[in-house]
Amino acid sequence: MQLQPSEVTSILKKEIEGLETTASTESVGQVLQVGDGVARVYGLDDCMMSELLEFSGGVMGMALNLEDDNVGAVLLGDASKVKEGDVVKTTGRVISVPTGMQMVGRVVDALGRPVDGKGAIQAAESDYLPIEQAAPNVIERQPVSEPMQTGIKAIDSMIPIGRGQRELIIGDRQTGKTALILDSILNQKRTGGGDPNHPDQVICIYVAIGQKQSTVVDFARRLEEGGAMPYTIVVNASASEEASMQFIAPYTGTTMAERLRDEGRHLLIAYDDLTKQANAYRQVMLLLRRPPGREAFPGDIFNLHSRLLERSAKVSDGAPKLNPRYKKGGGSLTALPVVETQEGDVSAYIPTNVISITDGQIFLEGDLFYSGVRPAVNVGISVSRVGGAAQTPAMKKVAGGLRINLAQYRELEAFAQFGSDLDKSTQEALTRGARLVELLKQGQYRPLANAAQVVAIFAGTSGALDDVPLDKIAEFEKGFVEFLMDTRAVVMEELNGAKCKWTDEIRDQVKAGLTEFKAQFAAAAAE
Ligand SMILES: Nc1ncnc2c1ncn2[C@@H]1O[C@H](COP(=O)(O)OP(=O)(O)OP(=O)(O)O)[C@@H](O)[C@H]1O
Ligand SMILES: [Mg+2]
Repeated sequence: MQLQPSEVTSILKKEIEGLETTASTESVGQVLQVGDGVARVYGLDDCMMSELLEFSGGVMGMALNLEDDNVGAVLLGDASKVKEGDVVKTTGRVISVPTGMQMVGRVVDALGRPVDGKGAIQAAESDYLPIEQAAPNVIERQPVSEPMQTGIKAIDSMIPIGRGQRELIIGDRQTGKTALILDSILNQKRTGGGDPNHPDQVICIYVAIGQKQSTVVDFARRLEEGGAMPYTIVVNASASEEASMQFIAPYTGTTMAERLRDEGRHLLIAYDDLTKQANAYRQVMLLLRRPPGREAFPGDIFNLHSRLLERSAKVSDGAPKLNPRYKKGGGSLTALPVVETQEGDVSAYIPTNVISITDGQIFLEGDLFYSGVRPAVNVGISVSRVGGAAQTPAMKKVAGGLRINLAQYRELEAFAQFGSDLDKSTQEALTRGARLVELLKQGQYRPLANAAQVVAIFAGTSGALDDVPLDKIAEFEKGFVEFLMDTRAVVMEELNGAKCKWTDEIRDQVKAGLTEFKAQFAAAAAE
């Protein structure tokens, strides 16, 4: 057989042309040390901060400490499957979670996996978004202008929250912090009738961090009973889960919220609570040998919370023109972070940090709670720095003197314990104050509509309750609201509008109703 050199070269050329030279690179390292849910990995030279790492055995991890010769990572799964010497690969992406309307109505874990037994969640590749995203910048935001009503008299009247605001709920353990959140979520049913697809319906996200599993189950059951589950997402990283899951849970919830906010919806997110999240972060960081700072927290703990809370905002109407991320402008994300204090100490590290990041705080006090003033809001030191602009005009008008009356009452109350001869004006202030305190008490699971709150507070501040016995205030209030609903339904309907003013006509109508009802109430009491 004769070999033609030209034939050989042409065959070789053809072969070379067909050769695929697309080699992909991946960074591979080895586990140096593993234990307590954290691992040190050697050899991942080009690892990114917060990058997702894949350990052999399918366990995932997150890079948190990038050091000269190793990477410190937390494990996000069964740590017992990871051994020393195991291979670790970088993935080139940060942790992503599924987002979108299909998440609404579900209970998920910190990685967005369903835990409610209602089946798998269908999410496309594009629905997965990283848990850390940039917060809207200055020009993509607009000032808070619409009310986020909680349905709780003491809050909506004196510490109003606006859509896009961050209002801290702070107090000792067992002072009704979670109860405030639950009622606020239940109250959102009024915005769109509880139908998640209604464009006005506020979608709620409850992030439970380090809570007892039973507390979370109870919370979800209450939501279900109140018809609030269809528009709520529960992200649960309970006390039994790894510290890593507890500290990423708030970011997970926020990413789910942002997706819908950027589509023009209104969102309410509650982080219950950030103290436990900070503790989980401290635990992980101490295990990774980060130098401990004040109260043994790592130095970036302030940043941990500020970059979380900065993501809550009211998006400007023109945002879609500035950034394609926004599909529709005008959406909002309101945050209610919770911080637990020890013995009411707000000057501890985490409380002071979070107070300085938020736009106000609702301070719940143990003493008030135990003396029966529930919700136990301490009006003197609770504030809302931006929400006043968003309060309904009618409420703003009738609740005007409330705060001062209560402050005066508290001062006089302490002083009146010592003397018996009180002048007339002091006595009047005491009578009024005691009735207002009574009026602001509110049971759980009964958030009130704006109209019911406005007329009740009007009854209190106008002095109509001064001659009603203290133990009859609650009954009077309930009866009065029902009476107005029966006799003046149109006025009540009007008062429920977010823009409704306290006009002379409305005032006269309510006043007339008040006189009529008082006569009726007195007659019934005399029988
Ligand atoms: N307005 C209220 N009226 C009556 N009971 C209330 C009210 N608010 C809360 N409670 C009750 O007080 C208890 C503590 O409330 P809650 O669990 O909300 O407190 P917490 O501050 O979240 O507690 P923890 O620190 O354990 O998380 C609960 O049993 C709850 O039912
Ligand atoms: Mg709680």
